Amino acid sequence: MRVLAIETSCDETAAAVVKDGREVLSNVVSSQVENHIKFGGVVPEIASRMHIEEIGIVYKKALADANLSLSDIDGIAVTAFPGLIGALLVGVNFAKSLAYAAGLPLIAVHHLKAHIAANYIAFPELAPPFVCLLVSGGHTEIIKVDDYLDFTLLGSTRDDAAGECFDKVARSLGLPYPGGVNLDKICTGEPCGKYIFPSPKVDGAPLDMSFSGLKTAAINILHNAAQKNIEIDKAAFADDFSESVSRELCGRVETAFRETGYKKLVLAGGVAANSRLRKRASELCERVCAALYAPPLSLCGDNAAMVGAAGFYEAQAGNFADVSLNAKANCEI
Ligand code: KG4
Ligand code: ZN
Repeated sequence: MRVLAIETSCDETAAAVVKDGREVLSNVVSSQVENHIKFGGVVPEIASRMHIEEIGIVYKKALADANLSLSDIDGIAVTAFPGLIGALLVGVNFAKSLAYAAGLPLIAVHHLKAHIAANYIAFPELAPPFVCLLVSGGHTEIIKVDDYLDFTLLGSTRDDAAGECFDKVARSLGLPYPGGVNLDKICTGEPCGKYIFPSPKVDGAPLDMSFSGLKTAAINILHNAAQKNIEIDKAAFADDFSESVSRELCGRVETAFRETGYKKLVLAGGVAANSRLRKRASELCERVCAALYAPPLSLCGDNAAMVGAAGFYEAQAGNFADVSLNAKANCEI
């Protein structure tokens, strides 16, 4: 089955063609990063308008790159939730119109499930069950994946997502948007313990996390230093901060391994690109004899290939949408 997939949930306009959920025939991503830099973050209104300008171009390129025409496509998948509502609506309307005009089945895809499915593209041998650490700009979740469409939330953040935490701390460090990746770039890879951050626990919920305290503690260190004219060693700060976030995440994963008895860890989402997190996850998996699946950086951030992969499994299960499909800003996995 060849699925044409559309992704517009945040600041990437993307289209891809994916065969049988695993083989990428084309994968086009048009990033809006340059347009949001001067605002220090994604401006939802600008994101929606740029998706409208780009979506047709990106769609045509995805078909051309795959050497296919619309008549070769068997279904249209689109990210319908969760995400920025105005941004999602552009993709959903485009996909609905296309599916209706071409008489093709329409498949609504959950953005977080798509992030997980990115791993089916990267690792052809990967199959559930596994534990997934899903870390993106808006979500931080530990999920038990028992089948392609069987997800159980084991733990999540009670406040900020890990990505949000990276972005805000990066901004306070004076780094440009997108913060997480720029903070990662200045790391040396060797935390020195010069900067100490709290390790918040959620009472009675060992797999839940809280990142707002960590974020505030980091920002306070920077503000205090600025007030006292003390120079911050930015690389050391970035190293220690990344180590701290990674320790929080990997500690929870270890508990999830114990609770589930599973020996496979799948990383997913934009923050899965973080080099310290990947190193920590790899050390953990080696120590507990588990297999680690960390997607290539190109499949960590938002793209449509992952939507095509997730869409395939929805279609296999007979989950199709119709012309009444609407976008939702929030939606549990
Ligand atoms: O999954 P994603 O591309 O979009 C959402 O669905 O949210 O994730 C974006 C998040 C942003 O917060 C970004 O700063 C973060 O992923 N990110 C990183 C890195 N690359 C992207 N955070 C830490 N280190 C990175 N290398
Ligand atoms: Zn995402």
